[in-house]
Amino acid sequence: MQRLGEHGLHMPQLGLGTYTLKGAACRASVESAIGLGYRHIDTAQMYGNEEDVGAAIEASGLRAQIHLTTKVWHTNLAPDALRRSFDESLAKLRTDHVDLYLIHWPSPTMAADLPAAMAVMCKLREQGMARAIGVSNFPVSLMRQAIEEIGAPIACNQVEFNILHGQTTVLKYARAHGVVVTAYAPLGKGRVLDNPTLAQIAGKHGASPAQIALAWLLRQPGVAAIPKAGGVANQRANLDALKIELDAQDIATLDALPKNQRNVAAGDWIAWDPPG
Ligand SMILES: NC(=O)c1ccc[n+]([C@@H]2O[C@H](COP(=O)([O-])OP(=O)(O)OC[C@H]3O[C@@H](n4cnc5c(N)ncnc54)[C@H](OP(=O)(O)O)[C@@H]3O)[C@@H](O)[C@H]2O)c1
Repeated sequence: MQRLGEHGLHMPQLGLGTYTLKGAACRASVESAIGLGYRHIDTAQMYGNEEDVGAAIEASGLRAQIHLTTKVWHTNLAPDALRRSFDESLAKLRTDHVDLYLIHWPSPTMAADLPAAMAVMCKLREQGMARAIGVSNFPVSLMRQAIEEIGAPIACNQVEFNILHGQTTVLKYARAHGVVVTAYAPLGKGRVLDNPTLAQIAGKHGASPAQIALAWLLRQPGVAAIPKAGGVANQRANLDALKIELDAQDIATLDALPKNQRNVAAGDWIAWDPPG
């Protein structure tokens, strides 16, 4: 599988999302994904499943091969809280480093909080404890502050991106600055599954709508995706989406679908870039 990234990032393009997975079900999902060949797992402090993810990765014996992303919640961005959060995440994940550490959401006072938070993030990277650092749910204005004003080596912005919700503005800025865009909710939290246009193209390829939605995302330069799939069948189907070759007509049809259906709501303090 293709790996993406600059600024210390070397991330397999397709990973496993773990939001809502917890306990034994989470461990079983992560173990089955690793068994199928997934080498990129996405978790977060806020998901309350870092211990389960850590246990599954440890049981696999393959930590060195696995790209592990976790994220700090926006209430923990003051320097002491951030450092404490990071140490707690490492302990729960049973590892001495993460491969990517993200600010999960902008705080209500993100522009003011960013310099001090980024100083801690940069130090974690310099110490090798976070191999790469980045952000999530950041509009271009905050990416610009982090990259151009603060000079932080931002490697990734994880945002809601799928066939029904576009990120043209974020993608353009990210590509110009060597930042990978990781598509969260790449299946629109299940919304893509009954889309008739996707179903029609899926029929043509002997595939499923979910696979077509992933194939559309993954053919785009600098884009990774982290579909959450609890069981083996969907995990395997999502890996197989990497093999689908969309033709020019498929791509034109998919590009033309409206791209303004957001699933995840912003706090009213975030001025996200318009979808499309
Ligand atoms: N940074 C952020 O703020 C943020 C926000 C949201 C999500 N995320 C990350 O992104 C990950 C993915 O997003 P998400 O979980 O919200 O939504 P998603 O991946 O778009 O959709 C997950 C849903 O799709 C189903 N599914 C997966 N593969 C399928 C397939 N091949 N065919 C049919 N159905 C399939 C899953 O069911 P099964 O489980 O039954 O397979 C689940 O119900 C999260 O788990 C999390 O790691 C990050």
